[in-house]
Amino acid sequence: MKFDKIIKGGTVVTAEGSALMDVAINGEKIAALGENLAGNCEAGQVIDATGHLVIPGVIDVHVHLDLPFCGTVSSDDYSSGTRAGARGGVTTLIDFAIPYKKKDSNDYETLSEAADNWHKRAEGKAIIDYTFHICITQFDQHKDQIKGMVDRGFTTFKEFMIYESEGWQSDDRAMFATLEKMKEYGSMLLVHAESSRVLDELIARHHTPEQMKKLGAQLHGITRPNYIESEAIQRAVTWCEITGGQLYIVHMSTAEGTDIIRAAQDRGVPVIAETCAQYLVLDDSVFEREDGHLYACCPQLKKPADQERLWKGLNDGEVSVISTDTCSFNREQKGMWNGDWTKIPMGMPGLETLLPVSYTHGVLEGRLTPELLVRKLSTDPARIMGMYPRKGAIQVGSDADIAIIHPTKRIKVDHATMETNTDWSPFQGWELAGFSRTTLSRGDVIVDDYKVVGKAGRGKWIPRKKAGLAG
Ligand code: URP
Ligand code: ZN
Ligand code: ZN
Repeated sequence: MKFDKIIKGGTVVTAEGSALMDVAINGEKIAALGENLAGNCEAGQVIDATGHLVIPGVIDVHVHLDLPFCGTVSSDDYSSGTRAGARGGVTTLIDFAIPYKKKDSNDYETLSEAADNWHKRAEGKAIIDYTFHICITQFDQHKDQIKGMVDRGFTTFKEFMIYESEGWQSDDRAMFATLEKMKEYGSMLLVHAESSRVLDELIARHHTPEQMKKLGAQLHGITRPNYIESEAIQRAVTWCEITGGQLYIVHMSTAEGTDIIRAAQDRGVPVIAETCAQYLVLDDSVFEREDGHLYACCPQLKKPADQERLWKGLNDGEVSVISTDTCSFNREQKGMWNGDWTKIPMGMPGLETLLPVSYTHGVLEGRLTPELLVRKLSTDPARIMGMYPRKGAIQVGSDADIAIIHPTKRIKVDHATMETNTDWSPFQGWELAGFSRTTLSRGDVIVDDYKVVGKAGRGKWIPRKKAGLAG
C-alpha cells in the first residue's frame, strides 16, 4: 500500500478512547488507521509523533474575526486569527455573519448579503476551514430569508438578547418565532442570553462619575450579577420547551445557568450549552487590576464557584462544548473606555490558547480525561454544528484535520511571540502545555515544529446540512 503521509508512533486520542497507532493520509482524507503502518507501507512523508498525542483538529465554534463592534473593528482578521488557531491546533472555526444597517438608508443587509460579506473577509486569508452562524438582527425583515440560508448550507442562526445600540438585539417574539422555524428546518438557534432591560437599569444606577472613579472596570461585574444571565437562559429555555426548536446557549458563564440547562435537559428540552475557556480559568478579580478593563467581555468573568460548576457540567454532560468567543482588541482599542466601563470594546483573544488552556487546566489538573477534552473541543462541536464525521473524528474517510501535541511540554504565553494580533494576552506568562507541534488541515501540514507554515487562502468554507442534536 502507498500513502501520501503517515503519522507514526503517536497515541491517537478520540472521544471514544486512546491507542498507540499510525494514521495514514491520502490527499485530504484519513485513509487508514493501524499498528505499524509506517513499517508495512510506502509513504511520501512520515511524521514522527512518538511520545505525542494525536487528536482530531479542534473546532472553535464561537469566533468573531474582523468584527465591527463597540465603535471599532476587532483586531484579529482571517489572516492573524486563523494562523493563531492553527498554532493552537484549531482546524475549523465558525464565525458569525452579521447583517449591518446599510449606509445612508434605514434598510439592513439581508442574511445572504451578510454571509457574502463574511466570505469576502475569509477569502485569500484563511489558512484553516471555516463557516458562519447567520445572525438574525431584524426579525421582520429576516424571517423569510432563513430557509434560503439553510438551503445555502448554513444551518445555525444566532440572536442576541443584548446589544440594542449595535442594532443587533432580538426580543422574545423573535426568539419564539425563530425557534419554531428551527424545528421546521432541522436547524439550530444560538442565543446570547443576558437580560437586557434589568441590565440597563443596573447600568443606569451605577453610571455616575463618583462610582466610575471609585470602581472603574469592577462596575462591569457589579452591573451583571449572575441573574442577568440565568434569567435570560431560563426565558430562552422556556421558548425552546414550548416550540420544540433546537436551542444552543453560547458562552454560558454561571452556575445558575448550568443548573437550568441540566434541569431542562432532564425534562427532554432540546437545549445545548457551550462555555468558553476563559470562564473556566479566569474570575472577576481581574477587574480589580489596573488593566482590568482589558478583560471585559459579555458576559463578564464570574466567580470560582461558577468555574467549578462549569467544569462539573462538562463532566456530567450539560455543558457540551468549550469555545473561545474570540473577539480581540488591542490596548489602544480597549483604552477607548477612558474610565467608563460601558465604552470598553467587549471581548478577548482566545483561538491560540483554547487547546493549551483547556488541556493544561482540564487534563493535566485532573478535571477532564483526554478523551472527554477531545469530545468537548472537537467531536461534539462537529456533531452539534452538522460537520460530523467529516470533521471532529480520526476515522477512515474523515478530513485529515489533526493536531499533534506533547503531553507535558509547557510553553510560556507571551503575546509578543504569538500569532494573535493583540499587544496583551489574558494568559500572559502562564506556562501551558498543549500548543500544537504539528497541525494538519485536510492533509496539509500547516504548523510544523510549533511554527505556522500554512498558506494564506487555503482554508475552505464548509457547507452543512443539519445542526443540533440531530446533527
Ligand atoms: O464580549 C464579547 N463576547 N464580544 C463578542 C460579542 C459577543 O457577545 O459574543
Ligand atoms: Zn455574545
Ligand atoms: Zn460572541
